Amino acid sequence: MTKLTEQLISEMERNITNDSVTEYINRFYKPASPELGTLRLEAEAEKVPIILRETESFLRVLLSIAEPESILEIGCAVGYSAMFFTEVTGANVVTVEKDPIMAARAASNVKRLGYGDKIRILEGDGEEVADSLFEQGETPFDIIFIDAAKSHYKRFLDASLKLCRPGTVIISDNVLLKARTASDIYDPMGRHKTNIKKMREYMEYITSDPRLETTIISCGDGVSVSKIKKL
Ligand SMILES: C[S@@+](CC[C@H](N)C(=O)[O-])C[C@H]1O[C@@H](n2cnc3c(N)ncnc32)[C@H](O)[C@@H]1O
Repeated sequence: MTKLTEQLISEMERNITNDSVTEYINRFYKPASPELGTLRLEAEAEKVPIILRETESFLRVLLSIAEPESILEIGCAVGYSAMFFTEVTGANVVTVEKDPIMAARAASNVKRLGYGDKIRILEGDGEEVADSLFEQGETPFDIIFIDAAKSHYKRFLDASLKLCRPGTVIISDNVLLKARTASDIYDPMGRHKTNIKKMREYMEYITSDPRLETTIISCGDGVSVSKIKKL
């Protein structure tokens, strides 16, 4: 195979699942509310990286099984997934966002759509905020959702573990990095080396830690689900 053919194939096969299968699955997608449906369309048009439709559909069922009362999210962006979590579970959500502009947009969306009494937005780095929540004696969360800087998942997880109890479920989004985590052929120009290396380390870490039971699912951009067995 020539280098060019190899590159073309890898470009075509970037997605974890076949595009037409994803398109088919997403025909069954339903927004959690009309307002969240509109916010999704606005975020997609603006290329704000919110959870993918198929990931949302998967999480919707997972959350309805888990019935969480409290969720910690690292990576809030405009508040879309935080509001989705509250809408489908009624849970209280604490969400962390490093970018002050995004945090302000999330605060305005949360207020406008009426989720203000359920969602707490904390501005700062995921690890630092989780550490300070722990120091302040925050009650352990039922679900932790990690969806922020891809090369920092391990430190987000380590900080979040202090806010877990046996039974807490940790969900990490984008763990397959458009298939690049699985193979270097999906990064032909080597542009994503650091993220790939860090994500592979994270995958090793969460699948080998005896405190966790973990599975990696090729849904959306890859989602891992870990249950805390013991601490
Ligand atoms: C993929 S977006 C989150 C999308 C959101 N969960 C949703 O689905 O609606 C990731 C967000 O994480 C934020 N972020 C990046 N590094 C962070 C960090 N160290 N701590 C907290 N947030 C961070 C980014 O600014 C960005 O808004």
